[in-house]
Amino acid sequence: MALLAPGLDPRSLLGPALFWLFLLPLPLTAGGGGQGPLPRVIYHAGDGRRGLSLFHQKGLQDFDTLLLSRDGGTLYVGAREAILALDIQDPGMPKLKNMIPWPATERKKSECTFKKKSNETQCFNFIRVLEALNATHLYACGTFAFSPACTFVELQDSYLMPISEDKVVEGKGQSPFDPAHKHTAVLADGMLYSGTMNNFLGSEPILIRTLGPQPVLKTDNFLRWLQPDASFVAAIPSTHFVYFFFEETASEFEFFEKLHTSRVARVCKNDVGGDKLLQKKWTTFLKAQLLCAQPGQLPFNVIRHAVLLPATASADARVYATFSSQWQVGGTRSSAVCAFSLKDFKRVFEGKYKELNKETSRWTTYGVPEISPRPGSCSVGPSSDKALTFMKDHFLMDEQVVGTPVLVKSGVEYTRLAVETVQGVDGHSHLVLYLGTTTGSLHKAVRSGDSTVRLVEEIQVFPEPEPVRNLLLAPAQGAVFAGSSGGIWRVPRANCSVYESCVDCVLARDPHCAWDPESRACRLLPTPIPKSWRQDMEHGNPQFACATGPMGRSRQPQSRPEIIKEVMAVPNSIVELPCPHLSALASYLWTHGRARAAVAEASAAVYNGSLVLLLQDGAGGLYQCWASENGFSYPVVSYWVRSQDQPLALDPELAGIPRERVEAPLTRVGGGAALAAQRSYWPHFLTVTVLLALLLCGALLLLLASPLGALRARGKVQGCGTPPPGEKAPLSRKQHLQPPTDRRTSASDVDADNNRLGPEVA
Ligand SMILES: *[C@@H]1O[C@H](CO)[C@@H](O)[C@H](O)[C@H]1NC(C)=O
Ligand SMILES: *[C@@H]1O[C@H](CO)[C@@H](O)[C@H](O)[C@H]1NC(C)=O
Ligand SMILES: *[C@@H]1O[C@H](CO)[C@@H](O)[C@H](O)[C@H]1NC(C)=O
Ligand SMILES: *[C@@H]1O[C@H](CO)[C@@H](O)[C@H](O)[C@H]1NC(C)=O
Repeated sequence: MALLAPGLDPRSLLGPALFWLFLLPLPLTAGGGGQGPLPRVIYHAGDGRRGLSLFHQKGLQDFDTLLLSRDGGTLYVGAREAILALDIQDPGMPKLKNMIPWPATERKKSECTFKKKSNETQCFNFIRVLEALNATHLYACGTFAFSPACTFVELQDSYLMPISEDKVVEGKGQSPFDPAHKHTAVLADGMLYSGTMNNFLGSEPILIRTLGPQPVLKTDNFLRWLQPDASFVAAIPSTHFVYFFFEETASEFEFFEKLHTSRVARVCKNDVGGDKLLQKKWTTFLKAQLLCAQPGQLPFNVIRHAVLLPATASADARVYATFSSQWQVGGTRSSAVCAFSLKDFKRVFEGKYKELNKETSRWTTYGVPEISPRPGSCSVGPSSDKALTFMKDHFLMDEQVVGTPVLVKSGVEYTRLAVETVQGVDGHSHLVLYLGTTTGSLHKAVRSGDSTVRLVEEIQVFPEPEPVRNLLLAPAQGAVFAGSSGGIWRVPRANCSVYESCVDCVLARDPHCAWDPESRACRLLPTPIPKSWRQDMEHGNPQFACATGPMGRSRQPQSRPEIIKEVMAVPNSIVELPCPHLSALASYLWTHGRARAAVAEASAAVYNGSLVLLLQDGAGGLYQCWASENGFSYPVVSYWVRSQDQPLALDPELAGIPRERVEAPLTRVGGGAALAAQRSYWPHFLTVTVLLALLLCGALLLLLASPLGALRARGKVQGCGTPPPGEKAPLSRKQHLQPPTDRRTSASDVDADNNRLGPEVA
């Protein structure tokens, strides 16, 4: 992330540079932020290994708002002009319990169109608030064709009762006017705290408390507690406070361009507003800057979403938030997840203030006031006029709340997140983050202890790229629900069966999965946790976790294959031995014979991970594809290749290993079957030559198609031309097959389509 990287306008650098100089005495280093962690496994849309189910219904769209029932068995969904109750108790597709329409009235719709809003995309009732008020009622608000409205929805046995029009009330401040505007709302102690835009134009943000017995309180618009572009993303209640997370233009820094900043604001739940001063206004509103940045780098200054991970016996409560940046460095967007401790919020909100000097329009630091109780603290009893006067102008804290970067990843923008802790076999808690992206995929990120975050998997949930609008973790169902424009997707937290061996199960380091030695399967960890199950979250080392026998007697559980695939082939034919690449974090290597020698250079090439083998004299025997991951090597697949003409004696060392006869996987190059039928040597030999040349040139062309490959292959290519048909050139080993000494492919050699085009074909 060099500061003068191409794609970054030098003018736009001034802002951030000054910003940084202003904030921290850190040098502006040109350190590279890097790619961030790679997902170990990527599932494309529709991959059967990650079976997802979709609820959708004709005529319904924009499944934006999600609410889980108290018993966790029903999912309430706010869509466009309708509220749904879905039964999610059974795995598989959520079942519709019932649906109640809640359209904006025709009058509101025509007013909306009259005000030049679209009757096709905007003048509808988009549900924005859906909260459980009590055991019998939900509270719902929607944009109602640019005229926000709210209503109570009665529940009977978690079925939704129809909304009668006379129960619909005005919802200004609770729902935005414009479906494109951000909003947040949370119900705490029977009161609704919401943050959104309070006018048609979307220029007047508000943070308001409604419902319940306490007076309605608002932010003061005139005092500019919020910038006109404040955009709310989350609200989190605690015992005494409600925290709001939002983004707005920073007024405290003066720069050439609009500088975004992320904020946390705090109000007291027991605030009752002022008497003479600050009537019906918050008397406890305070806000502070949130900082999510890697040392010496541009901050991630745009908050996208925030969630609370409540305190546990061993850890304090934390807020996890996703951020993106206002600046695109090198043309790619990047994202960060930062963790904030509630203790830091408390400390900052109890520290110094910033004060605007009205003459110079500059913000200066103001110390702690000598007013007791301290203004803005949740003290009971009426506040003095002095304290209220102070609060009117001192709402911005001097210090910023600094977050700890948990995950930084470029090339991706996270829109929503859900978080949980999962207990592993070792009894430790592991942090799991589910992150939805702007392109409709989901990242499962895991952190054990203070180690770096790993991406266990990436799942493309939506078939078409569109942002994940909402994400809800339903722990009782073991699933994450994601809302899109077309429906609700259910994503099981894990599918442990995709890890077919103990080694893969342990290397995956998914805290939900462990190897059950009894059933010899990677399975979802039940409660109570069976102590005999194998997992190594901390190191991901299968050497010990998968060792068999008492105290891991066999220290190399991996070197002996579990099954050998027997391949019978015609001499001088070409066979292709596939090797499934289970992990993007592993590097792969083919060996021949038990001595684990690299495959003979002259008779083989690795193409797309598969070994393409010319079966000549002495080329039979054991072929193994080894994966190296996390410092551990194991055979992914083992083949015993033998030719029909020269039967090979079975290696005594391999006795006892189960064998499975597989069809000679002749290379997919056409004419394979005909080739096998050939008996005469010369035509056969010729065909092989031509086929090999074609294969190699095809591979080279593919290699050359990528600029990187072109660089690598430059200078090595000469000599490869399709031999003219009929040319009786003897098969020159050197010319046609010249694998380099290093046959490894690694994650870095994987192109965008996950085709492995390593340096092996040269
Ligand atoms: C889990 O993975 C296994 C093995 O790939 C597959 O057969 C199964 O259908 C998957 N199950 C789900 C629910 O995705
Ligand atoms: C929207 O309004 C236009 C004319 O103003 C009309 O032609 C069109 O049918 C309307 N669309 C819908 C979905 O009502
Ligand atoms: C729930 O709230 C609604 C709306 O305020 C009220 O009518 C109803 O009586 C409440 N129910 C219970 C069980 O408190
Ligand atoms: C590479 O191998 C994978 C499976 O191993 C296959 O799906 C893919 O089509 C292959 N790509 C090419 C270019 O042959």
